[in-house]
Amino acid sequence: MDYFAAADISGRADLDVVLCRFYTAAFADRRIGPFFTELAGTDLDAHLPRITDFWERALFRTADYRRDAFAPHAALHAVRELTAADFGRWVQLWRAAIDGLHRGPNAERAKVQGERIALTLHQRLAGPGASLQGEDAAGFVPLAVLELRLVAVA
Ligand code: HEM
Repeated sequence: MDYFAAADISGRADLDVVLCRFYTAAFADRRIGPFFTELAGTDLDAHLPRITDFWERALFRTADYRRDAFAPHAALHAVRELTAADFGRWVQLWRAAIDGLHRGPNAERAKVQGERIALTLHQRLAGPGASLQGEDAAGFVPLAVLELRLVAVA
């Protein structure tokens, strides 16, 4: 018997928690953290409501998000290349953040959409023939992944 049946992502309040946990891990990540902290100087208080709108619109069509999500990544890439390994890490943290809190069709859609957008961003930035194999992308699971995933079984 399942003692802990994690619920599906049901709306904005759930997204708030997922995104807060995801960005805490992403900022602290040695591979992708510096894009936020050093290059973009991201203010999480400003970023979180926008990114929550983005995901609320993507999953439930209830929020209004009309910003250009590609532009900040193109600007970053122009200063420091966003590699396949960087996107691989983003996906790894995204999956872990969701798996740690939720189970269900919306959770699955959120993971698939994140992966799809990561691939699309990578292709647009690197060009269609670009290799998906990051130079050191294999075989390393950052501890933040374990931490993000452990919540549901705690
Ligand atoms: C290695 C991968 C990635 C890095 C390093 C990265 C980094 C960033 C940074 C630094 C910003 C600007 C935040 C600010 O305003 O200061 C940003 C914005 C954003 N990112 Fe990413 N990102 C990555 C992948 C993704 C993926 C896969 C998605 C797909 C969901 C995504 C969705 C967004 C959105 C929606 C915005 C907000 C754009 C806006 O409305 O201003 N990012 N990202």
